[in-house]
Formats: sequence, structure tokens, C-alpha cells
Amino acid sequence: GKRIAVLTSGGDAQGMNAALRAVVRLSYFHHAEIFYIRDGYKGLIAGSIERATWESVADVIQTGGTFIGSARSKEFMTKEGRLKAASVLALNEINALICIGGDGSLTGLQLLQSEWAQLMDELVDLDKMSVERAQRCMKLSVVGIVGSIDNDFASSDMTIGADSALTRIVEAIDAVVDTAQSHQRTFVIEVMGRQCGYLALTAALATEADFVFVPEWPAGSDWQTTMCNRLAMMRTLGRRLNVVIVAEGAMDDKGNKITPEAVQKVVEEKLKFDTRITKLGHVQRGGRASFLDRLLGTRMGAEAVYTVIEPTLCTEAYVIGIEGNKLKRVPLGKAIERNKMVATAFEKGDLNAVVRLRGKTFAEKVEYLQSTSEIAAS
Ligand code: F6P
Repeated sequence: GKRIAVLTSGGDAQGMNAALRAVVRLSYFHHAEIFYIRDGYKGLIAGSIERATWESVADVIQTGGTFIGSARSKEFMTKEGRLKAASVLALNEINALICIGGDGSLTGLQLLQSEWAQLMDELVDLDKMSVERAQRCMKLSVVGIVGSIDNDFASSDMTIGADSALTRIVEAIDAVVDTAQSHQRTFVIEVMGRQCGYLALTAALATEADFVFVPEWPAGSDWQTTMCNRLAMMRTLGRRLNVVIVAEGAMDDKGNKITPEAVQKVVEEKLKFDTRITKLGHVQRGGRASFLDRLLGTRMGAEAVYTVIEPTLCTEAYVIGIEGNKLKRVPLGKAIERNKMVATAFEKGDLNAVVRLRGKTFAEKVEYLQSTSEIAAS
């Protein structure tokens, strides 16, 4: 029968618990045995595996974080690390692994699956496993679920956590706007997103920000003037405040990082507007999961179980994505390849390609913002 293990890896995200809940309950429903691996790949390497009970997922759907713990594991990115991980899985006779995590975590998952048969042989050669067990464990099906507040996975319209993070960001910016208008201030808000400007972009749309800096569109060489003109114009039109959003990965067209401090300095020196900085930081990654993330986590978790229990699919590697509100099973290798293409396009400075590869939902937001020239495009 199916023996499924589930882990969460990389940066946590609200809605991961909803996905875990669906994975556990659906596994029970389909008479599969289900196990937790604590603290991501790090826990897997350390042998931290236990049976998941049906009750263990009660009252977790509301909460942020991941109740089975997560980690960023360097060791798993090495062959030795994956060999240890494979031995833990095989000794527990796990034949399906579901990983809820971001790009890095799913790249690791793909590596593990592609090397699986070879890892089994090596364990036999090293006398760490019997030939019979290796034969029994020759097949491992793997399924990824994308959990990341950044929404930076090219093969899915949404990743679990982005909606909750945005709910928090929008609430925080609304609060800042109240105080900003009282004092006629400019606020520079830093939001997360590593190399992806989705959070900054969509938060700018939803809060009527005056200006936004995102990694995909490095600011032109004279961004200072463009930005100040825009901010000054808004004041002339009667707005008592300004909001500028800076994505943490924002940069100018020479590759220099654009920091909230640099933006503040420009506004104060050129416009003499009283300016404050608010860095939202990890509050974006915690707190209650939004309705949409609970639903998305549940749907993706269920689909992951359906995928691993389907006999015809169980030897392939998939990642569950969503496109136009329909779940889809994307071959994991293809999805990883597409993310690599995004990274390469970034390095080359081919920003149109970055936006195109990120997909329609991303591109359309860029267009909305460009149409109102709120984006720092050169
Ligand atoms: O990928 C999720 C994310 O929250 C990014 O937005 C951010 O750059 C990073 O993780 C922060 O990482 P850490 O968990 O190490 O603080």
C-alpha cells in the first residue's frame, strides 16, 4: 500500500497548515499511511519521522506558520545529504513524498527523485540496506506543493501564502496612510519578495501607492527625478501624503540595490517632505491564513494525494500549480526548468522575458501599473 511522508521546507507560509491538513485527511480517507517529517529536509536527514494521526490536524487551518516545522537545509543540497535522506525514507518504507515549499525546496525534491534508484544501489553497496528492501523501495513518487509568500513560482498563478501576506501588507499600509495624512508625510514601505516583485506590485495596486520599485523593472538612471515629480504632483493634486513601496530585491539599472533609506534621503533632500520608513519584515509571513490561502492549501494538498495514489502517475514527479482557478499537475522537472529560465533572464537583464515567464497574472499587473506610471520603469 501507499506510505506517504509529508514535509514543509524553506520559508514558512500561511496556508501550509491547510495543505498539511488536506494531505493527512485525504490520505486517511484513501487508506494510505501518512507520516510527518519534522523540520524539512534537515529533519528528514536526522530521521525525524513519525506517524501523522487524523486528529493532529484539527484546529490548524486558521494558523500561520507550519506546525511540523521547516528549515532551509544546505546538507540536502549535497549528494551525501540526499543519501542520508534516502536511507531514512527507505528504512521507513516510504514510497511517496510530498514536499510543501518554495523553489529551492522543490529543486531539491527533483534531485532526490532523479537520483532515487542510484541512491538505493549505493545504500546496498554501503551495506546500509538489504537487497530485498532496496528492491521493495525502488520507486518513490514525489509531488511538490508551492508554498511561498513571494508568489515566485513560474508554473503557478499563485503560491500558498501570498494572499495572506498581501492581506497583512494592505492592512499595514492602510494603517500607515491614516497617520501619514495627519502629518502630511511620505512613507517608504519595504515589503518582502526576494527576487519577485509580485507582493510589491499588487500591494501598490491595492493601496494606491504613488510609486513602486520592483526587481523586475530596475529603476532608470534618473529615478530620483521621476519619483519626485510623481510625488510632488500627487501633493499638488491635493493628496496629503505619499506612499512609496520598495520590494526588498529592488535595484537600479546599474544593478545597485535601492534601499528604503536611499529613497527617504532623496525625498527629504529634493522635496523637503517629512519622510518615514516602515519595514514590514516577517509580520508578512505570519498571522492567520486568509480565506484564499486556506482554500488553495486545501485544494493543492488534496490534489497532491490524488496524484500519488493514482497508479498510472505514481512514478512521475509533479508539482501542483493553479492556472485560471484550475489545479494542474506540472511535471516537476519542467517547472524547475522554467524557474531557472526566469533566473537566467534576470541575470541577463532580459526583463520582458522575466515578466513573460512569470505568467499572465504577473504581466497584467505590470501593465495596470505602467498605465498609471506608478512603476519605476525606465
Ligand atoms: O521566500 C520567502 C521570504 O520570506 C522572502 O520574501 C525573504 O527574502 C526571505 O524569505 C527571508 O528569509 P528568512 O526566512 O531567512 O528570513
